[in-house]
Amino acid sequence: MMLSNTINPGLDGVIAAQTRLSSVDGQLGELIIAGFPAEELAGKATFEETLYLLWHDELPTAAQLSDFQAALAAYRPLSETALNLLRGAAQARVPAMDALRMAASTLSLQPGGGLGNDPRQNALAVVAASPSIVATYWRLLNGQEPLAPRPDLNHAANYLYMLTGQEPTPERVRGLETYLNTVVDHGLNASTFTARVIISTQSDMISAIVGAIGALKGPLHGGAPGPALDMVFEIGQAERAEGYLRAKLARGERLMGFGHRIYKVRDPRAEVLAAAAERFYQADGNMALYELAKSVEQTAVALLAEFKPGRNLQTNVEFYTALLLHGLDLPTDLFTPTFAIGRVGGWTAHCFEQQALDHLIRPKSVYDGPKDRVWIAVEWR
Ligand code: ACO
Repeated sequence: MMLSNTINPGLDGVIAAQTRLSSVDGQLGELIIAGFPAEELAGKATFEETLYLLWHDELPTAAQLSDFQAALAAYRPLSETALNLLRGAAQARVPAMDALRMAASTLSLQPGGGLGNDPRQNALAVVAASPSIVATYWRLLNGQEPLAPRPDLNHAANYLYMLTGQEPTPERVRGLETYLNTVVDHGLNASTFTARVIISTQSDMISAIVGAIGALKGPLHGGAPGPALDMVFEIGQAERAEGYLRAKLARGERLMGFGHRIYKVRDPRAEVLAAAAERFYQADGNMALYELAKSVEQTAVALLAEFKPGRNLQTNVEFYTALLLHGLDLPTDLFTPTFAIGRVGGWTAHCFEQQALDHLIRPKSVYDGPKDRVWIAVEWR
């Protein structure tokens, strides 16, 4: 047990959990997901296979995979309560992450009754229903009627179908699966830590995931890909990149999609997603945006080295997330909710680990206020 009173305001460098789920090496630029280098797993596995791997520490056999897919698909339909809530949220035009947070809470109510307390069923429900919530909300927000989920489609394909009403091409499904697999887990990041803190009190899985969604929403965590893409669009042409980025840095602004608390080299997820985006844009016959983004990236990294020497500010996951998700025709407002649809897999797996550990997470604080105040009755204040 640590007895020192040294304060670590962001818990930087503090090891607070042991996990077999993922390993992040910020100096080597290495991400391992349940034993697989991210670049080995992300482009090959379906999301269901990755989820099964995280939950069971092994890849499923064909029979196990088909049972697992069916168990997940059974939880895709939303209850009337969830649908009504999403209709209200669409009327108020709340951000999609807020709609996801609110509707995730309603998953304790299922179409046929209560969800119960079994952590496994809770986890299946929240992973399976997250795409349904986001797609349903998006359609309602845009004046369209929601679509029923398609149990014959896999997790990623069903999400794209529920958004657009069209069965996606295999390239699109592969692109989205690569993305979801890439972001499924990433060490003890803020949202995962939030989920572990909540479940460590012996609270329930849905509460833990709702808290994690709230943590992911902030721009310092999951909210950067939208602004990163806006920046590329505003730049518009490679020749304008330097002037635009220089002016931004001179004003003291941050370049979205660059810098990371852990990675001091290029985020390995950026590698995987850049390769996936290149493949996708090539297949689509539209390389102009990809080329522009590459050139903006190179200029940004060079200017960050000039403006912030010694900080090693490199491309993070958000930059190529934006490019890939945009290529899949996902609107920027859905970038962070789609991140949540992937990361919920990791959150649930961490909750299982924390439940097995059964140890309350409870750090200390150092009090720095006065100790000798004297009470003054309200009429004398
Ligand atoms: N653009 C410009 N300057 C930057 C950037 C950036 N993207 N990132 C960090 N800096 C600067 C800071 O201003 C600071 O400069 P200073 O020392 O002169 O004040 C220095 O680099 C260190 O910054 P910190 O905030 O201490 O670095 P930290 O490790 O806490 O920040 C963070 C990491 C929050 C991701 C930061 O790099 C950032 O704000 N990036 C832009 C937002 C972004 O892309 N977020 C997504 C992160 S990926 C993810 O969470 C999934």
